[in-house]
Amino acid sequence: MERQLSREWFRRAEAVIAGGVNSPARSFQGVGGNPPVVMARGEGAYLIDVDGNRYIDYLAAFGPLVLGHSHPRVVAAVQEAVARGPLLGTPHPDEIALAEELCRSIEGLEQVRLTTTGTEAVMSAIRLARAYTGRRYVIKFEGAYHGHSDAVLVKAGSGASTVGAADSLGVPAGVTQDVISLPFNDIGRLKDTLETLGPEVACVLTEPIVGNMGIVNPAPGYLQQMAELTRKAGALLIFDEVITAYRFHYGSAGALLGVIPDLYALGKIIGGGLPAGAYGGRRDIMRLVAPLGGMFQAGTLAGNPLSSAAGLATLAVLREERPYARMDRQAATLEAGILDAAKRHGIAVTINRAGSGFTVFFGETPVTDYTSAQLADKGKFGRFHRLMLDQGVYLAPSRFEAWFVSAAHTDAMIEQTLAAVERAFQVLAAD
Ligand SMILES: Cc1ncc(COP(=O)(O)O)c(C=O)c1O
Repeated sequence: MERQLSREWFRRAEAVIAGGVNSPARSFQGVGGNPPVVMARGEGAYLIDVDGNRYIDYLAAFGPLVLGHSHPRVVAAVQEAVARGPLLGTPHPDEIALAEELCRSIEGLEQVRLTTTGTEAVMSAIRLARAYTGRRYVIKFEGAYHGHSDAVLVKAGSGASTVGAADSLGVPAGVTQDVISLPFNDIGRLKDTLETLGPEVACVLTEPIVGNMGIVNPAPGYLQQMAELTRKAGALLIFDEVITAYRFHYGSAGALLGVIPDLYALGKIIGGGLPAGAYGGRRDIMRLVAPLGGMFQAGTLAGNPLSSAAGLATLAVLREERPYARMDRQAATLEAGILDAAKRHGIAVTINRAGSGFTVFFGETPVTDYTSAQLADKGKFGRFHRLMLDQGVYLAPSRFEAWFVSAAHTDAMIEQTLAAVERAFQVLAAD
C-alpha cells in the first residue's frame, strides 16, 4: 500500500501543528511511531486516504459515527441548516428539538444544556455538582478519560495514557488535591473512601461502561452499589455517557444497566459528527445553572444550528432504523472470529465487548480496571495495528481504545476483516 502523499501531508502538518495532530489520540505514537495516515474523506464504513487507499473503518472518529461516514440524511440536514445560517446566537428550533429528543430518550434527563464538546459537558457537570452540594471532592476512576479539563486529567485514560500524559503537566496542585482517582470495579475502595471523606464529596464520576482504557464492563451489581453508596454520602452520581449514549441502544447505557444517575454528560453521537456535547439531569439541580441560578456556564457555539441538525438527523435514523441488533451481531462475529484465530495461532488475546464496541487486549489476564488494561502487550498491538492498516483495516491507534462497528458495516466487510486478522496473526505467530 503506497502512502507517499500521506507522508508529504504529514511532514507539512508537523511543521505547523504541534505533533502534527490536533488531538494526541490521532498520532501513531502508541503503535510504533510511524506517521499517521492523512485521510481525504469518509464514505459509509470506509475511510479513504489522500493516496486513494480505502480502509474499513472501526475508529468511527472515536465513537460519534454510529451511522458511518456521510450518511445522506445527516449530510442533507446539515446542508439545509447551513443555508439558513450556520450560527444565529439566539434560541432556534433545532436546538430545542434536539434537547426535547434527548430528554425523551434518556431516562432521568429532565433538563439539559447543550455544549460544544464532551470536555465542556463533563467539566460543567462537575462544576454543577459542586455548586449543588457545596462540596469539594470529585471521585473518578483510574484510566477513565473524561475530556481534557484540569480536574479530570488525573490518572486519565485514552489518548492521555497512550502518550504517557495520564497526569498532565500544567494542572495545578490546587486542582488535583480535590480529585480522588480509584480503581474501577473495586466497590470496597469506593466504600472506604466515601466512609472517610463522604461529607466532602461532591460527586462520583464514571462511564457506566468504560470506553477509555479499552472497553471495560462494570462487574454485576457494581453500578447499583456505586449509586447507593454515593447517595448515602449525599453526593451526586454523574454518568459520563459521551461515548455510551445511543451506542448500545436508543438511550443511555445507564438505563440499559438499570442505574439512573443524577447528572449525565453527553457528546459524540448526539452531534452526528459535528461538535456537540450536553449535560443535564434532575430539574432541581439544573435550576442552579445561569441565568436561573448562580452556576455559570456558557458557549458561543453551544447548540449551534449545524450540530443540532446533524444530531437530530442521526437520532432520527437510529430511532427509525434501530440498527443495534445487527451491529451487535457483527461485533459478536468479529469477537468470535478473532478469538478463534488467536487460539489457532497460539496468540494470547482477551476481548472485552459491549454491544457494537470491543477491545482486543494482547494478553491473558482478564481486564477489569486500568492496572489490568496496562498489562496488554503494547508491542504486539503496535505490530497488529500496522498489519491491519496495510491490509486496509483502520483501527484506533492505541491499545486503550475500542473497535466500533457502525450501521454502515456489511457482513462482507466483517468477513474481509476476519481474513485480514487471520493473516496478521499468522505473521505475529511467526515473529
Ligand atoms: C467518555 C468521554 N468523556 C469525555 C470526552 C471528551 O469529549 P470531547 O473530545 O468531545 O471533548 C471523551 C472523548 O473521547 C470521552 O470518551
